[in-house]
Amino acid sequence: MAVQINPSILSADFARLADEAKAVEGADWLHVDVMDNHFVPNLTLGVPVVESLASATDTPLDCHLMIEAPDRWAPQYVEAGASSVTFHVEAAAAPVRLAREIRAKGARASMALRPATPIEPYEDLLPELDMLLIMTVEPGFGGQAFLDIMLPKIRRTRELISKHGLDLWLQIDGGVSAATIERCAEAGADVFVAGSAVYGADDPAEAVRGLRAQAEAATAGATWGCGH
Ligand code: DX5
Ligand code: ZN
Repeated sequence: MAVQINPSILSADFARLADEAKAVEGADWLHVDVMDNHFVPNLTLGVPVVESLASATDTPLDCHLMIEAPDRWAPQYVEAGASSVTFHVEAAAAPVRLAREIRAKGARASMALRPATPIEPYEDLLPELDMLLIMTVEPGFGGQAFLDIMLPKIRRTRELISKHGLDLWLQIDGGVSAATIERCAEAGADVFVAGSAVYGADDPAEAVRGLRAQAEAATAGATWGCGH
């Protein structure tokens, strides 16, 4: 699977979301952070904004739900136009049922792990998912420092994906920048969320191209990426 770069609109200007989506043309997905002030100590946007954004851009939406009760809310984000919906396993009551419901409604199903949540208990669930998100900061805010201590988890997850021969994307989110993306690609990530590193740049589209080039070079040099 090719490297994918997903700018996070958390670092964009919320009053100009349609323009901010255009500013990163060439991005694979737009990453949309939904926060409810319960699962994380921050509040962002919900279903109506996702619905408007979906009709304002051709770039597919990758909705990252940092909310309680995703079993109840996630299906509504598919209906609102999200092409990929990520729920946190720590908040889900029935992750297998929820992943199946997201897929049945026509979106890619993805599950996220907070930094302190291990991957190992979820090995048997991986075939139910289209993407796994490993958080590389504590979720809640953009602009935080990348947690290097997550690199072994990225490596172990890539090994599990290979061991089972799965077509599962491995996304990372938090502190991804020109300074950290190569380490993540080398460890096995293939989908990269970047907020401040893209929207904080003078030219966001150029920032996306730069991150992609770095990740592609690092993947080509990685053992897991050989022949990928
Ligand atoms: C944080 C969000 C991220 C955030 C990343 O909880 O899930 O998507 O936008 O921002 P940066 O790339 O600035 O760390
Ligand atoms: Zn996110």
